[in-house]
Amino acid sequence: MAAVRGVRSVEMEVADVGRATEFYTRVWGLSEVERRGGSCYLRGTGAYHHILALHPATGRGAFRRVTFDAADRKTVDSIHRQVNEQLGPIAACQELKLPGGGYGFGFKDAEGRNLAVVCDAADHRDVADVADRPRKIAHVNVNSADHPAATRFFCEGLGFRVIDETGGLLFLHCDNTDHNSIVISKESRNTVNHVAFEMADLDSVMRGAGRMKDNGYPIEWGIGRHGAGNNVFAYFAGPEEFPIELTGEVMQVGPDYVPRGPEHWKFPPGRADQWGVTAPHTARWKRIQDMFGFSADGQIVS
Ligand SMILES: [Fe+2]
Repeated sequence: MAAVRGVRSVEMEVADVGRATEFYTRVWGLSEVERRGGSCYLRGTGAYHHILALHPATGRGAFRRVTFDAADRKTVDSIHRQVNEQLGPIAACQELKLPGGGYGFGFKDAEGRNLAVVCDAADHRDVADVADRPRKIAHVNVNSADHPAATRFFCEGLGFRVIDETGGLLFLHCDNTDHNSIVISKESRNTVNHVAFEMADLDSVMRGAGRMKDNGYPIEWGIGRHGAGNNVFAYFAGPEEFPIELTGEVMQVGPDYVPRGPEHWKFPPGRADQWGVTAPHTARWKRIQDMFGFSADGQIVS
């Protein structure tokens, strides 16, 4: 089974690209790499050409696409075959003319998510960590109205495996050493729960959270340390209330990792993280976790 090796980028449709860009550069710590047709493309400190694209919204705010990285063309072709088998005919693989270019394909999954798989993009060579700046997308958490079917698709189509399961979440691991790159929330709608950006270390998460507070973005949940994945978390409502997370110290795993189930990952009453420090999430966080779906026109990736 061919597998993706992580989330390369996430695309959002926002009402005000200029204001969102100002936030994601000055406050969140990304760097602008390209502007095209009213859209802005931003990188982290890692290699990916861009990890976030901001597009002008045609209606209400939405996620346009989640793009996965693949090792090479052979892997992209194999994953394309696997997705075809799961979903029926999808658009062919092609040379991409998007910022960063590369080779790949896009499609809409059975629950309406716009997904893409890309290799050979024009990635960066300067990949040293920079304190307080995000490296990459650590994970995307997607809500699913049919989580068994969604899980089956991510596993059999894109090569993930379930690495842990809690009462409400399925953690999916792919061809890298991160504990998870996709999380499926067992919900009733097919929206995006949140997008997590990975910081280099705990202090960077803490200082990033401080920078958010300084700029009028209070912590909606956290700071805490999750059970499954062992990562530190701080959740925020970003510009236009997009649900975003700063995370760090994500557990690194190998093939010998033993998955565990909901009974193992239960916290004692009154606890929602390993430390017992964080307050419960705010009502606003609960609301924005289910506020953004995928736009209709996200299938085209060239
Ligand atoms: Fe998360």
